[in-house]
Amino acid sequence: MIKISQLRKSYNGRCVLNIEDFVFEPGGKYALIGANGSGKSTLLKILAGTLAADSGSIDCPSGLRERLGYMPQKPYIYDFSVLKNILIAFTHSQSDSAAALRALRRVGMEDFAAARGSRLSGGESQRVAFARMLVEPHPLLLLDEPTSAMDLNASDQVEQELLDYCSEQTTTLIFATHSLAQAQRVADTLLLMDHGLLAEYGSAAELIHHPQTQEARDFLRNWKVD
Ligand SMILES: Nc1ncnc2c1ncn2[C@@H]1O[C@H](COP(=O)(O)OP(=O)(O)O)[C@@H](O)[C@H]1O
Ligand SMILES: [Mg+2]
Repeated sequence: MIKISQLRKSYNGRCVLNIEDFVFEPGGKYALIGANGSGKSTLLKILAGTLAADSGSIDCPSGLRERLGYMPQKPYIYDFSVLKNILIAFTHSQSDSAAALRALRRVGMEDFAAARGSRLSGGESQRVAFARMLVEPHPLLLLDEPTSAMDLNASDQVEQELLDYCSEQTTTLIFATHSLAQAQRVADTLLLMDHGLLAEYGSAAELIHHPQTQEARDFLRNWKVD
């Protein structure tokens, strides 16, 4: 499990993250939802280790954070071939072109293997960044709006691959999304962030249909929930 306690981050004296405590259970799937600026990316960056919290702690099994997979909101694609962009991900096993091509196929990007990274669209870049994560097992995946620039077909395909990956590897998944439908399909627990605070969490059924806090009710009012 991953236990966060009293995690705080401020910029120029303004607190953007302040979470008292939360436990992510192994193999759980967690969706971070909330308005722009509510602290979703900040939390993911701190969990990924690309940003230091001002205070607080993250307790997790040793070695877990060295093997996590992180996909930032704007994933980085190097300006060499798409295939090479995948091959650089083999850090724990030998680099394998056939496996890299299989990963590209799983996101519908195999025809782009020879294309230059800098020529990709936003959605294509996200698909390549996602394929890059598929090639190795990760006990923890941190994905920041992983399908935000994808068309519906690509998004559906990536969601399915993500669910398959998580069940094959028993991966813990924490992802930010602006799609409540996606949060409902993929996650078993939703965490609603509001001005840096964890306002409320629970299953989709609990949080969406029986919100307990004013923050959750206000947030949901702006969404059309099926
Ligand atoms: N490097 C930074 N300097 C100053 N403010 C920042 C910086 N990074 C993020 N912020 C602010 O922190 C808040 C939380 O940002 P973020 O975690 O990216 O929100 P979300 O991902 O929920 O949209 C926002 O108001 C954002 O403007
Ligand atoms: Mg964000």
